[in-house]
Amino acid sequence: MNIGIIGSGGREHAICKKIFESKSTEKIICFPGNAGTLEFATNINVDILNFKKLLNLIKSNKIDLVIVGPEEPLVKGLVDFLKKNKIKVFGPNRYASQLEGSKAFMKKICERYSIPTAKFKICSNKHQVIKFLKNSKLPIVVKADGLAAGKGVTICRKKDQVIKVSTQIFNGKFKSSKKLILEEFLEGEEASYFLIVDNNTYKFFGTAQDHKRVREKDKGPNTGGMGAYSPAPVINKSIEKKIINRIVRPTLKALKKTNNPFNGFLYVGLMIKNGNPFLIEYNIRMGDPECQVILPRLRTDLVKIIENSILNKLSKTKIKWTKDKSMTVVLCSKGYPGNYKKNKLIKNINKINVSKNEYIYHAGTKAENGKIYSSGGRVLNITAFGKKFLTIRNKIEKLIKRINWKHGFYRKDIGWKVINNENN
Ligand code: AMP
Ligand code: GLY
Repeated sequence: MNIGIIGSGGREHAICKKIFESKSTEKIICFPGNAGTLEFATNINVDILNFKKLLNLIKSNKIDLVIVGPEEPLVKGLVDFLKKNKIKVFGPNRYASQLEGSKAFMKKICERYSIPTAKFKICSNKHQVIKFLKNSKLPIVVKADGLAAGKGVTICRKKDQVIKVSTQIFNGKFKSSKKLILEEFLEGEEASYFLIVDNNTYKFFGTAQDHKRVREKDKGPNTGGMGAYSPAPVINKSIEKKIINRIVRPTLKALKKTNNPFNGFLYVGLMIKNGNPFLIEYNIRMGDPECQVILPRLRTDLVKIIENSILNKLSKTKIKWTKDKSMTVVLCSKGYPGNYKKNKLIKNINKINVSKNEYIYHAGTKAENGKIYSSGGRVLNITAFGKKFLTIRNKIEKLIKRINWKHGFYRKDIGWKVINNENN
């Protein structure tokens, strides 16, 4: 089977590697991929929001199955478009993708089905914001309604800041958002729970914890994710049951009722407080860098799982996982998530030989004349597996030191909470 993968991040490199391991795979084409995917696939450089061009390339390359990695093409309806053109594709349709594409859409479902989430108010103008502020406690979380590449959420500790951030959103800071959500601040421990979903059922697809802040001890601005580990021990069996019964089931039922059942990966972003899960956000795809720690633990053929999901036969699919743990640390360009330089040579990357339990997933990289250069903010995901998170992190640190990229930086404390607990 010829398989097309849409996207160019660490997540897509991880999907590409897993797909390559499947017996059903003949050829992989990445649209557009990165320097890492070239190990397994052919890269075709194309704007992934130019659906017509993408369709022509999918047809001319005789692709049998398309897997969509990132949210933007999903929210903009790529799956609907490809299906209409008789292409087999994995991912949710445009309607169901609103779970991530519109925070107001997601919150309205929570309200209707009593799904535990932060108390909120959807606002369309400044007057509504001022009114909400009169009766609420700080901090307040301000969220742009639409997609904002991880930059749409601000935790405000002063009421003035709420007004300032809200005004920026109403003035069009994020083109995707005319509305915003004001939200109560939730205390607790954050964790992510993943599922693969078809029209009839859903299957567990791992847990992970990301580190969104740019600096150690969770300080500084939010990023796309600086590192992750899997599994997330905070999600025990009792919490998992609550996640399924109180959050996942009502959501899937709500979508089914509109004749738009969810089909694809579902990322449930949670805050766990006193043994109870609260929904922070839904993403309608695998996480990045969470995918880079979850897929290496998968022991079932990913192509088979995805095909069964498309055919709504997931109930017959047994998905196996290794008990081993995994971690990834993201090596970023200096300056990220603010301004950073691109096209910086990563001199030593070709000299690194990783062992069986290590892997370097590329993200913002490109290959030119056999050399590898940076092309984005998050550049490499240094990943390792094993029995203990601390040992795994030490292995990762050694690899990063060998890469010794002077234009990069990384967080040295990924997994600090879980490592503290492991040692107690
Ligand atoms: P979101 O895009 O909704 O996931 O928000 C990005 C990040 O902001 C989350 O991963 C949390 O760390 C934080 N966050 C969002 N909403 C809340 C909330 N209601 N309370 C506390 N932290 C939040
Ligand atoms: N790592 C966060 C995300 O994928 O949304």
